[in-house]
Amino acid sequence: MKLFLTITTLLLTALPAIEATTPIAPTLSYIGTANITLSPPIPIGPGPRGNRNFFPITDGSFTGPLFTASIPHYGGDWSLGDPIAGTFYVDARYQLLTDDGANIYVEANGPQQPEEGVVHTRVKFETGDARYYWVNNFVGVGIVTPGEGNEYIVVEMWAVSTQGETHGKRKGKGKGKGRK
Ligand SMILES: *[C@@H]1O[C@H](CO)[C@@H](O)[C@H](O)[C@H]1NC(C)=O
Repeated sequence: MKLFLTITTLLLTALPAIEATTPIAPTLSYIGTANITLSPPIPIGPGPRGNRNFFPITDGSFTGPLFTASIPHYGGDWSLGDPIAGTFYVDARYQLLTDDGANIYVEANGPQQPEEGVVHTRVKFETGDARYYWVNNFVGVGIVTPGEGNEYIVVEMWAVSTQGETHGKRKGKGKGKGRK
């Protein structure tokens, strides 16, 4: 016990003091809005992880301040029904084809909110295209709302941002290359 205390004291004195500051909330920067048309679900049925339905994407578009893209028909939402909460969980994978020809793979998944009905998703973009390589760094959030007649869905996408914080309290490893 005594040895433990000595080691702890040594460790604590060796570490630089951590300032007790109020955490700084990151902001969200707008990536764009996807408007996706889905065909009626193909039931896969109740299984070990819930009630799975596949909603194929037939068409779509993505419009944002940084780029615009079409959403081709290859992809969809392998939605999972939560039998306990009565809500569902989006599990979508699809592609963006930017207006200048880059292919971007999108993964989005997350739960329907029991109170509000909207779905919150974690959004990930992936591409090897040098012109869009920066999309790999998005830590994205999507807000999914159904369109009229449930024929399409609208997804607003946001990326976590720590830019513009001038207080200098969040220590980063210098500036990345950023968006081009
Ligand atoms: C989404 O697309 C549908 C069908 O193509 C269209 O009717 C609707 O106005 C669009 N909504 C938004 C928010 O872009």
